[in-house]
Amino acid sequence: MGGETVHLPTGREPVLRVMPAPADVNINGDVFGGWIMSHADIAGAVVATRRARGRIATVAVKEFVFAEPVMVGDLLSFYVDLVRVGRTSITVTVEVFAQRRPGLTDVVKVTEATFTYVAIDERGRPRPVPPER
Ligand SMILES: CC(C)(COP(=O)(O)OP(=O)(O)OC[C@H]1O[C@@H](n2cnc3c(N)ncnc32)[C@H](O)[C@@H]1OP(=O)(O)O)[C@@H](O)C(=O)NCCC(=O)NCCS
Repeated sequence: MGGETVHLPTGREPVLRVMPAPADVNINGDVFGGWIMSHADIAGAVVATRRARGRIATVAVKEFVFAEPVMVGDLLSFYVDLVRVGRTSITVTVEVFAQRRPGLTDVVKVTEATFTYVAIDERGRPRPVPPER
């Protein structure tokens, strides 16, 4: 992963699109990895919440590797795939692509990670994921 220009995935929409601002950069002027990670968590949670039909909590995240820096004004797209539904858990992969400013025509893959969420009840305890509708 990394280095080459790629294309955005075709035939599906990103769950989230967002453009980092100057407040989101580190002292090198690149966007904080943690900012990207939190948005990946949000994107994954959108899909997991829909599948769980209610409240969820993030229980585990597997390996972020950042292949490309992200700069202010890049347009980030977060694509989510549901990969596993357990008894109470939902696992998704999140892929993050950046369209480079100023033209937003060059696309690079920034990172990807696997998130596991647990469906929880009103007291924060695991509850079974309901059957798919
Ligand atoms: C998420 C939480 C409710 C799970 O409670 P728990 O009593 O540990 O639940 P369990 O051991 O029954 O595990 C629940 C599910 O999570 C899965 N799970 C637990 N730890 C896991 C891990 N490290 N990686 C992947 N899946 C994991 C279990 O396999 C189980 O899935 P299944 O029911 O589909 O088989 C509890 O750990 C919690 O509240 N954690 C804090 C969550 C949070 O606040 N996250 C935000 C970041 S701080």
